Amino acid sequence: MTRINSHYQKLQAGYLFPEIGRRVREFSAQNPDAKIIRLGIGDVVLPLPESIRSAIKKAVDEMADPKTFRGYGPEQGYEFLRQAIADNDYGTRKVSVSADEIFVSDGSKCDCGNIQEIFSLDSKIAVVDPVYPVYVDTNVMAGRSGHIAPSGHYEGIIYMPSTAENQFKPDFPKEHADLIYLCSPNNPTGTVLTHEDLKGWVEYARKSGSIILFDAAYHDFITDSSLPHSIFEIDGAREVAIEFRSFSKNAGFTGTRCAFTVVPKELKALNDKGEKVSVHALWNRRQSTKFNGVSYPVQRGAEAAYSPQGKKETQEMIRYYLNNAQIIREGLASIGLEVYGGVDAPYVWLKTPGDLGSWDFFDLLLKEANIVGTPGAGFGPGGEGYFRLSSFAFKENVEEAITRIKQQLKVKN
Ligand code: MLT
Repeated sequence: MTRINSHYQKLQAGYLFPEIGRRVREFSAQNPDAKIIRLGIGDVVLPLPESIRSAIKKAVDEMADPKTFRGYGPEQGYEFLRQAIADNDYGTRKVSVSADEIFVSDGSKCDCGNIQEIFSLDSKIAVVDPVYPVYVDTNVMAGRSGHIAPSGHYEGIIYMPSTAENQFKPDFPKEHADLIYLCSPNNPTGTVLTHEDLKGWVEYARKSGSIILFDAAYHDFITDSSLPHSIFEIDGAREVAIEFRSFSKNAGFTGTRCAFTVVPKELKALNDKGEKVSVHALWNRRQSTKFNGVSYPVQRGAEAAYSPQGKKETQEMIRYYLNNAQIIREGLASIGLEVYGGVDAPYVWLKTPGDLGSWDFFDLLLKEANIVGTPGAGFGPGGEGYFRLSSFAFKENVEEAITRIKQQLKVKN
């Protein structure tokens, strides 16, 4: 009989967010009157801005006319969008990234998950713990790990503890890592790496011959002008880093789907003969073979996010969510909870009260306050004892959630 990829059987039960969804659906079915507030998965609630909607509609109309209709687009993305990204996301910050180093895609989750395919199966990977689970799971699927140990860590993967003691900024790996996943602003802890931090990582990667896979999906939530938005703001990063960005959270595209990955032309890795090979060329080859690009109307919508009106509208959305994050942070801090993140990031990371396990706190909030959050343990063993609340919700729901949490925790004490 046909055999499966048995590495999949090393994975823990289900992917985090569907597992949360399953528990919430079960609770909802048993408690149909419960008014559940969802601050779990980071899914946007504000509608697509007017500038983006009209660009998409206009593009759909073009598709209705044989003279302007478009079939397959370039697998790497249309030039108009790649150039708009290069000019606006990088050019304005004096960062050198050219349009042909940008690969437009349907999501950063996909790109962060797919990128490992172009590297050797015996590459050692290093991740921060807690971590966005996609980095780990996709490497487990590919066979770069052993089984999960009783500690909750996969054998063969290097975990870099990210704790309150180190301000959620992990030390460099203790052993050589070929691929190092970093995320800033961080999902889940909300920590943002400074220029100095990133400089340290770039120097480390250059010395150790590692590649940094830098997830900057939340960079638009940075308000402190001293903080870097891109790893390419650091000298020397172009030889050692790949960057992932998304329109999901800053422009409301979680359902519309558009993102991009920057692979600099200078980035090289070794082939079996020890020769240096272009990573850009490999990613291009991979995308051209396995991906047919993002739809034309969606790419026009993404382009509109860079128009003057689009910038104004997306900035308003970001401010709205950051204001929610502030409500969560301040509300929880006012009842003595230890809170982190939520300033230059849309996620608030909190220590569970009374040393509750993070899934126990999840159950408590769901059952007693009808609030959905994300248990820290879902992001790896280092997240145990922590909990993540997302600011991607309507303000009135966030306010109501904080009132309920306050009441619940007072009742408990
Ligand atoms: C999250 O809640 O961590 C994000 O929504 C996950 C994602 O963007 O895939």
